[in-house]
Amino acid sequence: MIKKCLFPVAGYGTRFLPATKSMPKEMLPVVNKPLVQYGVEEALEAGLTEVGFVTGRGKRAIADHFDVNYELEKEIEGSSKEQYLESIRDVMEKGKFSFTRQTEMRGLGDAILNGRRLMGDDPFGVVLSDDLCLTGDDEGVLAQMVRLYKQFRCSIVAIQEVPEDQISKFGVIAGEKMKEGLYQVSDMVEKPKLEDAPSNLAIIGRYILTPDIFEVLENTPPGKNGEVQLTDALLTQAKNGCVMAYQFKGKRFDCGSVEGFVGATNYVYDNIYTAD
Ligand code: UTP
Repeated sequence: MIKKCLFPVAGYGTRFLPATKSMPKEMLPVVNKPLVQYGVEEALEAGLTEVGFVTGRGKRAIADHFDVNYELEKEIEGSSKEQYLESIRDVMEKGKFSFTRQTEMRGLGDAILNGRRLMGDDPFGVVLSDDLCLTGDDEGVLAQMVRLYKQFRCSIVAIQEVPEDQISKFGVIAGEKMKEGLYQVSDMVEKPKLEDAPSNLAIIGRYILTPDIFEVLENTPPGKNGEVQLTDALLTQAKNGCVMAYQFKGKRFDCGSVEGFVGATNYVYDNIYTAD
């Protein structure tokens, strides 16, 4: 079964400058927890306990977050402040973490290819942690997708309907509707112009990938914006076999943008932080 999950976290985060000049955007806190921890908690909940990160220059804070901070922990040991470390200690206990680096930021597809050694020959989840997905008390988005994987055994992308003025920011799919919220992908276009978009169904930052994706990525030339696009590799997989697109249940916030990040912060503060 699926045990592994890859977190590509090497991107520059230009939409969030100057905050991201020396700090990874994945460490931006939504209320009191960094974005990447939300993503890792979602992976662990889905049973994906072998967590791999593709990091880059300036991203050391991410590795430090999933390690002990001996001095700090010693300092607050036994005090009431120790409770603030509970969630990260729980994550560190459940997960096994490994890291590799992307040396040139050649796009998401290239970042995933860099994660090959960490993921090996097994199917694996992918989380883009700047997409914060919240499901309340219901199953997390990755757990929903793992359940589908057991049924279809092929790559799966999470999708959501987006308004027309947003379409050009996403990878967009066309597909045959299998049942409510589930499509077999026939076409995929990365960041299309509105008139070229095959639908309003946009791919968001959750994937299950079968390991043949690495072979495909190796043979995928740079596409849109000169970057190796995961969307292009997934289209090859769809044409050679099968890729499913799943309209997940839950809320998604694009925390790579200031507006999405503020929306997420308000939502988490009102519905999770103060409700606890
Ligand atoms: P984004 O498209 O959000 O790019 O990448 P970005 O560089 O992080 O942010 P902006 O657009 O400049 O503000 C989607 C995901 O892919 C990772 C990013 O870290 C993010 O999680 N990524 C992207 C890489 O790991 N390497 C890359 O070369 C590009």
